[in-house]
Amino acid sequence: MKLNKIYKPIQQELVRAEESLASVTRVEPNWLAKMLDYSLSGGGKRIRPALALLSGKLYDYNLDYLLPMAVAVELMHTATLVHDDAIDNSLVRRSKPTINSVWGEEKAVLLGDYLFARSGEFAADTQNLRVVRLFSQTLAIISTGELEQTFTAFNTDQSWQDYLKRISHKTASLFSLATESGAILSQAPEKSIEILKDYGYNLGIAFQIVDDILDFIGTEEELGKPVGSDLSQGTLTLPAILLLEQYPDDNPIKKSFSDADRPKNIELALNMVRDSSIPEACYQVAADYCAKACRNLNLLPDNDSLQSLIQLAGFIAERRE
Ligand code: IPE
Ligand code: IPE
Ligand code: MG
Ligand code: MG
Repeated sequence: MKLNKIYKPIQQELVRAEESLASVTRVEPNWLAKMLDYSLSGGGKRIRPALALLSGKLYDYNLDYLLPMAVAVELMHTATLVHDDAIDNSLVRRSKPTINSVWGEEKAVLLGDYLFARSGEFAADTQNLRVVRLFSQTLAIISTGELEQTFTAFNTDQSWQDYLKRISHKTASLFSLATESGAILSQAPEKSIEILKDYGYNLGIAFQIVDDILDFIGTEEELGKPVGSDLSQGTLTLPAILLLEQYPDDNPIKKSFSDADRPKNIELALNMVRDSSIPEACYQVAADYCAKACRNLNLLPDNDSLQSLIQLAGFIAERRE
């Protein structure tokens, strides 16, 4: 199923979220407006705002508070991407040159800071201290995840558990912020807030696993960003961990991480994974997380938004681009 179909119950709200994102770009001076417009206008899947809105629409939502949160999570996400690309020296995202490649690394770091600040402003507009606290805690957790990634770069001695911990920090935390805060802002009962938080968390894990598979089997044209970049950055993801399990001794990932003929060994590793059952095995792990995400949704009120949350899990489990 296509995302625009899944987003149907929140179509109008997403239009309003886009308008708010556009309003962020209407600032002086002009060079700042230009950079903001470049990083915020279009191309993204808008999954995190959709999660906040869909979760909120299960209960008694007030758009005056829910909408700012949807915008806040997308701004926070954009800020993390701008920084992530600067750290990775990545040149293409959403099929366009990255901020760091157009304006340089220094400006990318500062623009990311600016976006974080503006996201905080939207979080404050929820007028809900519990949500604002969660928002700040999430930013700290994402930063921890990105730091873990740099501290463990080029280290092949990492377990599934290490990997899961890292992606829960860098990705699942923001997914669960979106769903949990959507629920809080619509006066959901505590039990339901817990269920939606858990849904977002497991969905986020699945989402990152699929992103990591696509870094092996996708194409730049489909993804709008380079492939094979995780190994080049020394980031050990699930497909790589499985390849290391299969070939513990003579393994091109080990060689590439120890600097031996890096491009050749990365290419070899990519081909070995593509030609193996590893991608399917990883998709199965992602599907298991999606099933786990949905396990308690039947305890929530059934409406179009709930159905969309279920469909979104299906979309993520099968995503190929
Ligand atoms: C990319 O997220 C970063 C990850 C957590 C894997 P998305 O794939 O949601 O990025 P956009 O917003 O759609 O470009
Ligand atoms: C990024 O994960 C997660 C963030 C917190 C920014 P990735 O590094 O896998 O994202 P892409 O592949 O660059 O989009
Ligand atoms: Mg990256
Ligand atoms: Mg990735």
